[in-house]
Amino acid sequence: MPAFMEPFRIKAVEPIPFPSLRERRHALHEAGYNLFRVPARVITIDLLTDSGTSAMSAAQWAALMVGDESYAGARSYERFEAVVHELTGYPEVIPAHQGRSAERILLGQVLRPGDLSVANTHFDTTRASVEAAGAEAVDLPDAHDGPVPFGGDLSVPALRELLSGPDGSRVRCVVQTVTNNARGGQPVSLGNVAAVRELCDRHGVTLLLDASRFAENAYLITERDPVHAGRAPRDVAREVFALADGCWASLKKDGVANIGGLIALRDAELARRCREQLIAVEGFSTYGGLAGRDLDALAQGLQEVTDPDYLRYRAQTARWFGERLTEAGLPVLQPTGCHAVYVDAAVLLPHVPPHRLPATALANELYLAGAVRVSELGTLVFGRAAPGGGDDLPAPRELVRFALPRRVYTKSHLEYVAETAATVVAKAAEVPGYRIVEQTGQLRHFTAVLAPGEPAAPPARPAPDPTSPRPGPD
Ligand code: F0G
Repeated sequence: MPAFMEPFRIKAVEPIPFPSLRERRHALHEAGYNLFRVPARVITIDLLTDSGTSAMSAAQWAALMVGDESYAGARSYERFEAVVHELTGYPEVIPAHQGRSAERILLGQVLRPGDLSVANTHFDTTRASVEAAGAEAVDLPDAHDGPVPFGGDLSVPALRELLSGPDGSRVRCVVQTVTNNARGGQPVSLGNVAAVRELCDRHGVTLLLDASRFAENAYLITERDPVHAGRAPRDVAREVFALADGCWASLKKDGVANIGGLIALRDAELARRCREQLIAVEGFSTYGGLAGRDLDALAQGLQEVTDPDYLRYRAQTARWFGERLTEAGLPVLQPTGCHAVYVDAAVLLPHVPPHRLPATALANELYLAGAVRVSELGTLVFGRAAPGGGDDLPAPRELVRFALPRRVYTKSHLEYVAETAATVVAKAAEVPGYRIVEQTGQLRHFTAVLAPGEPAAPPARPAPDPTSPRPGPD
């Protein structure tokens, strides 16, 4: 038996482009050095996100054909509703076209101006929705120091202190993002959700899950918590859902489809208000901005995603890929989770200070080296303008995320990425920083225009020796 292999075979293929070095340089320049602005036609391996980039199964493609496009009460909705209800146990199921519309609608109904929403980490779009409701998003500090099995946990002492302090009465909801995407894709333990539930009960606060990666979180619980070893991930997921008052999710992740989102709740009155808002901005409450066929593909995907063989392959892929990137000389965050491998760009590029965007610098270099696209989760995404002007307040970490689309890339594709990474590591000391030329207030990373900074100073430390690099396509 190999260490692991893909638990599927390939039925339809899509060619991938191999742009030359000249084309890559030109594309990056034209894009204002922002990978979100680089067209996919000049990308060889696209690890920008695991969101909406999944390959659907034969059964999902078949499900598209039975999609019912009735405006109201479609059979597709009934199938979707039944699957979500069985999975979450929540009686109220509301489809939405993706995660950010679901969170905008739900948080808009839960929060009032001046309220606090407290989370292990709000994803960037979640934070934007909290702020749109006139409330404040509070991310609690890490619950644990160093590499631990459940690095996504919400800090219970910090929550307790906040709830019993002067701002305690402002806390309207607590959000557990499972897995914790902004902090290395680390899982949240069942014990942590239970402890948070208890505190929420004591203080009359609503507990919501951002369940976008609920299945991967459940699998990692079975892998890392001996108490839950050998359990079916679906049962563990149900137990997590049972502890909360409701959830929203981007189904572009663990729905294993290309579009979709949901809100699922216990509270019928809150659900009624969400539906009213949904109808105004998304569509009728039985399709929520989706086509009937999307709901059928999602219903099928939500059943496939908790398959233990598939989830084991996800975790094994991330672990194996993390090992290859470590061998290539990248500082990989450990332990790896499922949906991505995270690298600390500040460690690789100590000569690039936070306001010169080290994570962006590494991401851009990977593109130039081999048309590999990854995403920055550093100061460009999470930095904040300094109150008195001047350099931005840096993000807590300068992470680069190598996201793993579901069922899309094989081991040999990822080997190519590791080889590309080794060529970047070999000349890490020459990688330039960037400055922001144009930016918007919110979610600036999607549209910002950047320019490379001055050439970097001579190497501060010897670069690790790359293992037989294969140059990117020239
Ligand atoms: N919550 C989490 C934890 C997410 O990771 C995302 C999206 C959203 C909500 C918003 O969902 O994209 O369907 O509107 N994350 C993507 C990513 C964009 O690349 O991590 P959406």
